[in-house]
Amino acid sequence: MRQIELPGSELRLSRLGFGTAGLMARLGRRESVRLLEIAHDSGITHFDTARAYGYGEAEAALGDFLGRRRDAVTVTTKLGMLPPRRSRALQGAKALGRVGARVLPALRPLLRRGGQSMASSGAFEPLAARASLETSLRELRVETVDLLLLHECRPDDLETEGLLDFLRQVVAEGKARAFGIGTDRASTAAIVASRPEFARIVQVRQTVADPALELPPGVGLITHSAVVPLVDAVSERARADGWSRETVGRLLLAGALRANPAGAVLFSSTDEGRIRANAALADEPGPSAADLERLARLAELDPT
Ligand SMILES: NC(=O)c1ccc[n+]([C@@H]2O[C@H](COP(=O)([O-])OP(=O)(O)OC[C@H]3O[C@@H](n4cnc5c(N)ncnc54)[C@H](OP(=O)(O)O)[C@@H]3O)[C@@H](O)[C@H]2O)c1
Repeated sequence: MRQIELPGSELRLSRLGFGTAGLMARLGRRESVRLLEIAHDSGITHFDTARAYGYGEAEAALGDFLGRRRDAVTVTTKLGMLPPRRSRALQGAKALGRVGARVLPALRPLLRRGGQSMASSGAFEPLAARASLETSLRELRVETVDLLLLHECRPDDLETEGLLDFLRQVVAEGKARAFGIGTDRASTAAIVASRPEFARIVQVRQTVADPALELPPGVGLITHSAVVPLVDAVSERARADGWSRETVGRLLLAGALRANPAGAVLFSSTDEGRIRANAALADEPGPSAADLERLARLAELDPT
């Protein structure tokens, strides 16, 4: 798969990256690692995780996979949201969640984020941030992460005393190669304008219904969540015209690739066939302008 040099950094990432938010929430560890292997086998070399994903277990699953491949892949993790504490109630919730995802597909959107709604936010104080990063490195079994993002940070969080020094320090120590923000679109725009020193790399949602974010030159852009907010509504409307849900899903991802030509686009999936089909999009010429226009029209009817 084609690689890009991410502006704002010296990172080389695969055009499509694989997100781990849903893995340990909906699947066990062995199946999660198998899907990571499939993503890698399909040419994906960039993997996105966070302390909070998969009830705090996604990093460990990614750590199992990284093994001998560490030098051949890039990894993002995040800090600022903590996973829920381990408890019997949590074990029960996870087990129910994994069964529920199998028997009741309608539960999947709730489970996709792997307990993030149970995560606490705002842990940006340098001591807490360092503890989070050290835990991530231990779980991932690596000495360095390629990219460290402030997870769902708000502009006010960046006023936390010592936070910028902490980020620069971990880069100087070799524990992260670069840092940036991974938050909602409004906070991203505000932070880019008011605290650009935190935002040389931004990771943000970009669907075909979202206007392009205005970024200064030289800022690295990673986008995500191109498929999930729109795929159901758009495929419902497109059915009469013969577009299946799979076609719509792939078109939404292809639209996100088109919208971010110099950066990387993340997706997640727990389905082997979809991972392979999505990965192939990175090296394909892309959909026709007419199909993309039609997709955008269908998506604009119901932006979420
Ligand atoms: N703050 C942040 O930085 C932030 C926020 C959100 C997400 N992320 C990252 O971005 C990654 C991806 O985001 P996301 O999971 O929200 O969005 P996404 O990739 O748009 O959506 C994933 C969902 O779409 C389905 N899907 C994938 N490909 C499909 C296709 N071709 N056709 C139909 N359905 C398809 C998957 O279902 P199946 O599993 O059933 O295949 C999965 O439920 C996350 O895992 C996370 O790593 C980062």
